[in-house]
Amino acid sequence: MAELEICEVGPRDGLQSASRTLSVAERVSFIQGLYDCGLKKIEVGSLVNPKLVPTMADSDEVFSTVCDAAPTNRDNFSLLIPNEKGLSRALEIGCTSVAFFTATSETFSKKNINRSVGESLEDLRHLMQHAKEKNPRIRLYISTVFDCAYEGMKQPEKDLIAFLPLFDAVDEISLGDTTGKATAQQVKALVESRLLESWRQKLWWHFHDTYALAEDNVSLAMDLGFTRFDSSAGGIGGCPFSPGAKGNVATEKVLAVAAVKGLSHSVRLPLASVR
Ligand code: HMG
Ligand code: MG
Repeated sequence: MAELEICEVGPRDGLQSASRTLSVAERVSFIQGLYDCGLKKIEVGSLVNPKLVPTMADSDEVFSTVCDAAPTNRDNFSLLIPNEKGLSRALEIGCTSVAFFTATSETFSKKNINRSVGESLEDLRHLMQHAKEKNPRIRLYISTVFDCAYEGMKQPEKDLIAFLPLFDAVDEISLGDTTGKATAQQVKALVESRLLESWRQKLWWHFHDTYALAEDNVSLAMDLGFTRFDSSAGGIGGCPFSPGAKGNVATEKVLAVAAVKGLSHSVRLPLASVR
């Protein structure tokens, strides 16, 4: 039986646009609760400019606290990193799993990280070089793969070509449907284009659920043989720089679809309560 893998992004993507900033203790308790449910791979926060994303302030403290409480689980907890400053801090506090991020949309990229796509690609090359110091596990998020809040529908088979040279150097590639507008036809077309076939084992799907399309997309991706998904407990979340974007697909929904498809997993949630 194939095994479902979930990257639980609730503590980062889920909380980053929350209306209230949770204290470090509240975030730690949330993360520990998720871990105790069997969600072993958790993005616990982001080291971004706290003036822009106040909800993620002190993510370094969140990371250190969860690791201090369970030192053997350190490799399971990752941090989202935008630049050299964030990476230096992550490596300094012993983070062994970092997530870099970029986008295919020029407009979103400028609004999100104040970089053009070309500048972001250049920054990523430096970040990957810098990361070699400590050799952390590297995830690369690519946002706006299918659609952008500012530019509309994207052309993944064309737009992703610029990012291919980075893929051999990373451990995970997370394809972001930032606005939640991706359709199953778009997902199928991207897979069938075989553009990403060489990196199939590294692919993670990151669907937001703004228009209730995520479940269909997860289902289709599973039918196509994919088993790795990002999700957030309760479907909380959204990107503050993508107006209108709602939460990630709920972890509970992914588990429910996985149950129908016969994928195994070790998450202990009361599935009866999720629909
Ligand atoms: P910038 O203005 O180009 O950076 O921002 P800068 O180097 O000029 O610095 C400006 C200020 O930011 C300075 O502080 C720096 O110290 C501070 P000041 O002098 O004004 O007090 N700064 C930092 N502080 C803490 N940690 C850092 C850091 N870097 C600079 N690492 C930057 C560039 C990327 C930092 C900024 O634009 C930023 O923080 N953006 C936030 C991006 C973000 O968090 N977006 C949401 C996550 S992405 C997402 O949700 C999508 C995803 O889920 C996938 C999907 O759904 O598609 C991953
Ligand atoms: Mg996201």
